[in-house]
Amino acid sequence: MEIKLTHFSHGSGCGCKVAPAVLEEILKDSGETFFSKNLLVGNETKDDAAVYDMGNGTALISTVDFFTPIVNNPFDYGRIAAANALSDVYAMGGKPFMAIAILGLPVEKIPTEVARQIIAGARAICNQAQVVLAGGHTIDAPEPFFGLSVNGNVEIRNLRKNSTAREGDLLYLTKAIGTGILSTALKRDLIKEDDIREAVEQMSTLNKFGEEAGKPDFVHAMTDVTGFGLLGHLIEMCEGAGLSAEIEYAKVPLMTSVKELAGKFIYADNTMRNWKSYEPKVRGISGESLLTLCDPQTNGGLLIAVAEQDKNAFRALATNNGLTPQCIGRMMGRKAIIVEIS
Ligand code: CO
Ligand code: CO
Repeated sequence: MEIKLTHFSHGSGCGCKVAPAVLEEILKDSGETFFSKNLLVGNETKDDAAVYDMGNGTALISTVDFFTPIVNNPFDYGRIAAANALSDVYAMGGKPFMAIAILGLPVEKIPTEVARQIIAGARAICNQAQVVLAGGHTIDAPEPFFGLSVNGNVEIRNLRKNSTAREGDLLYLTKAIGTGILSTALKRDLIKEDDIREAVEQMSTLNKFGEEAGKPDFVHAMTDVTGFGLLGHLIEMCEGAGLSAEIEYAKVPLMTSVKELAGKFIYADNTMRNWKSYEPKVRGISGESLLTLCDPQTNGGLLIAVAEQDKNAFRALATNNGLTPQCIGRMMGRKAIIVEIS
């Protein structure tokens, strides 16, 4: 019997995140947190990971990320979930060094060989990233889920938050948009082999560039684009800095079949939920850009705010790391509208 992992999952990848509004509701009255002056980044700015000052010029970065199956191949699912979890450390300018696995599986319905493949995929990515996969915890659960808790470190001066962009900064994106649309098409068996390959390739590609991008002063802010889509993570970047942004839609890179699939109204469930929470903050959206800019990404690209005068140095750094990030817009002074799309 062929096991189709995605048929066990209600959401896909980072698309199974709870809505921002629900998350706020959950956290609102959950009590006072023990205060430590060593906590450099906590929950307030919706950043990618927590950061704790170790007192010697370096900080510990700690994060956890897991989700239900986004592809049917268990090895690929493990690779994608692992690369996605490591991404939040990279997005803060850090270097991940140790990970612990979190696995849930309906043990009656899914053979242990599948679990073994998931772990093998995660291990392959951790090896590639030179991260020790040092343990884990597995439970019997009705819906499969997998991910990692990750520790990383960073020299504090290289720490990059999502909230520190400056007016006039250029915005760069390191990966194309569309993994939510593609994985929805996959779940409904409406996808070509080539598109699956492209999606798996992109979702399992490490955002290791973040570790390098945190070093130069001209990188002012950074985050990775995941469940809230490009628009959601950009709004967080704007609100954190008290700024607005403008995006030129034609410059936003899209994965190969995304326009075609969006034209057939294939989109992830959470796209509309995302849009509902952003609508009053955005101007200039169209049918297609709504479906793509609100598309929940799994291990999406890094969104990086760069001082305009240093754009050539930034390009050179990216080229040295094998990337050609697309400049999609810029940060502006605060306006009534947070993101203007043209
Ligand atoms: Co993130
Ligand atoms: Co995350």
